[in-house]
Amino acid sequence: MATVTQPDAALAHDTFPINGTDYIEFWVGNARQSAAYYQAAWGYDVLAYRGPETGVRDRASYLLQQGKVRFVLTSPLGPEGEIAAHIYKHGDGVRDLAFWVDDARDAYTKAIERGARSVHAPRVDTDEDGEVVIAAIATYGDTIHSIVERRNYKGLFLPGFRPHTSAVKSNPVGLKYVDHCVGNVELGKMNEWVGFYSRVLGFFNLLSFDDKQISTEYSALMSKVMSNGNGRIKFPINEPAAGKKKSQIDEYLDYYRGPGVQHIAVATDDIVKTVRALKSRGVEFLQVPQVYYDTVLQRVGKIDEEIGPLAELGILVDSDDEGYLLQIFTKPVQDRPTLFYEIIQRKGAKSFGAGNFKALFESIEREQALRGNL
Ligand code: FE2
Repeated sequence: MATVTQPDAALAHDTFPINGTDYIEFWVGNARQSAAYYQAAWGYDVLAYRGPETGVRDRASYLLQQGKVRFVLTSPLGPEGEIAAHIYKHGDGVRDLAFWVDDARDAYTKAIERGARSVHAPRVDTDEDGEVVIAAIATYGDTIHSIVERRNYKGLFLPGFRPHTSAVKSNPVGLKYVDHCVGNVELGKMNEWVGFYSRVLGFFNLLSFDDKQISTEYSALMSKVMSNGNGRIKFPINEPAAGKKKSQIDEYLDYYRGPGVQHIAVATDDIVKTVRALKSRGVEFLQVPQVYYDTVLQRVGKIDEEIGPLAELGILVDSDDEGYLLQIFTKPVQDRPTLFYEIIQRKGAKSFGAGNFKALFESIEREQALRGNL
């Protein structure tokens, strides 16, 4: 347990109320094939589509959903424009961590007043199902936060999207909701972005980790977790710290060509079942050495789960004052060593698994060394 600070939640003064994550949009080279991957391997339903057939000429988008997790995968249909430029520079990655709000105009105005950089002013999109008001502000790198108001909309997702019929039925793996989304920023920039979330959005610093806690022989990182008032939005922000060799954050920044979303943690109520299903469909996870399981229960205390299946699948355990959590991390899901996923099951704990960082980083470094980047 490596909790340095745990400030009072009363310190949060939300600039505007956020109901939760509305969607996460990825800009990818081939949205059709990415959708097939997320459907076949992760069990997402492909619910809706927007593209030339629905009157949008320059891009194709697929809406995927499992539980409350909603992904949009978008590809450009030509080399022009910002989507193609984003993919050329970053590879496949997260463009938008969208907030669901009740009043997008008010939220946007307040965010801009407090110093947010505008991506676009509130815009009203309509179709026969009503209207959605959507604005967007910039965050680290080329990542944005759309601000989505859908109280006057009864359609499936956003105007222009049409129901999509899949040739195959999806088989969900028990994913429930987005627990947190982690950003990697450059050395020396963590506090700047912590300041942004605090000043502009009124988030508070839930937890902090320094390089003494998150370090191995070779590399280190520092991290601060920013949260909105109701805790539905949690953004840890990482920056690299000096080590003997290149840190995993540096490797990310090199390959993503700048700051961006490092991982998305998705919650499940049964991590053993979820991970077993994902593995059987080819999703690859980081492995910790079996010796990790020799001492884990001494560290975290009693847990409900059998240790055997956890060890077999490589699921990690950590605890804090309020309970424990189970977690596991995938390998990067594209050829660039950039975005990956975390599967997390919380049993009371509100922390992020700092007690596992050392074992985990040693595992990441083995992969990094194989890529010649350590
Ligand atoms: Fe995480």
